[in-house]
Amino acid sequence: MVTIPESKRESDLSRLLLEAGLKRINQGKVRDTFELGRGLLAVLTTNRVSIFDYVLNADVPGKGRVLAEITNHNLRKVLRGIRHHLEAHGQEAVDYLPALPAVSDLWGQIQIVKKLRMIPLECIVRGYITGSGYKDYQATGMVCGIQLSAGLKDADRLPEPIFTPSTKSNDGHDQNIDAYRAAEIVAEEMGMPMDKAESLVQTLTRYSMEVYRQTHNHGLRRGIIVADTKLEFGFDDEGLLTLGDEVVTPDSSRNWLIHDWCVSPWVGKPPSGYDKEPVRQAGKKAILPDGREVDISSFKDPSDPEQIRIVQSWRVPAKVISATTVRYEALERMWIQ
Ligand SMILES: Nc1ncnc2c1ncn2[C@@H]1O[C@H](COP(=O)(O)OP(=O)(O)O)[C@@H](O)[C@H]1O
Ligand SMILES: [Mg+2]
Repeated sequence: MVTIPESKRESDLSRLLLEAGLKRINQGKVRDTFELGRGLLAVLTTNRVSIFDYVLNADVPGKGRVLAEITNHNLRKVLRGIRHHLEAHGQEAVDYLPALPAVSDLWGQIQIVKKLRMIPLECIVRGYITGSGYKDYQATGMVCGIQLSAGLKDADRLPEPIFTPSTKSNDGHDQNIDAYRAAEIVAEEMGMPMDKAESLVQTLTRYSMEVYRQTHNHGLRRGIIVADTKLEFGFDDEGLLTLGDEVVTPDSSRNWLIHDWCVSPWVGKPPSGYDKEPVRQAGKKAILPDGREVDISSFKDPSDPEQIRIVQSWRVPAKVISATTVRYEALERMWIQ
């Protein structure tokens, strides 16, 4: 279960949807999902922000719209040959929600999607080695059971992208797993024979690699490196494998400016993510209302009520919030326009 701060459970937009009589079936860290009937969902991408698996007591203005627009653009304009869940967005969504007042903000943050039976895996593709993948590599020479060549440095490009699935955990850190464990999880949780689950994981690998290849190419043409990305797939009501969730957004991918990546060997550290990095950095030295300084990245149990209370007492400084909005909006311009 995700713990959303009391004051962030409702936004003006989620209230509108509830008042229109829609039933909310899920509140994730960032998205509120409403049942529309006829196999469809209305997904509201809010301005909530989470770091190190904790939802903060803060909103980043513009973030929800940017995330939704980037996913829409990727599904409609960038990707070719991938079945996906998006039915309508923006003004098109009005037809599905006639009872809603014409509040213009709303439409940028709403998507109408096909309700999928989600596969309980995070399908991660890495084209570069960094983050938890680099940590695993340093410890074992491997990531998710894949042996990599010796001597790789943090943020190096891999000779070929690799598929490195993880568990999809509701409360706490996702765990990197190998393809066999991924198939076991699918078999257990979806009630599938093991040979079917193994062949599904192979198909997910192919699809995920293809989504990564196409979006990584798109980014390179626009000055952005998609270092890695996390995808989610499910089955639609005809049983067809379908790409769901958000797709190659700054919340689900690690994006670097090509320029930052090129100079990173001289800077001596990996490039900074073009995303909520200002909030992450501030969260490592968060000043609480009682004057105490804490490092939220060292908090390891996002389901512990005491840790949640401490994290949610942090008032994220206004300049950190505005720097984050600037990053999301700049990335949107680079990615879409
Ligand atoms: N088409 C879909 N049908 C059903 N569930 C979906 C679909 N697309 C995404 N989801 C689920 O909706 C949720 C999105 O909310 P989000 O705030 O991103 O949650 P999380 O905290 O799990 O990342 C995720 O749990 C994701 O698995
Ligand atoms: Mg998510």
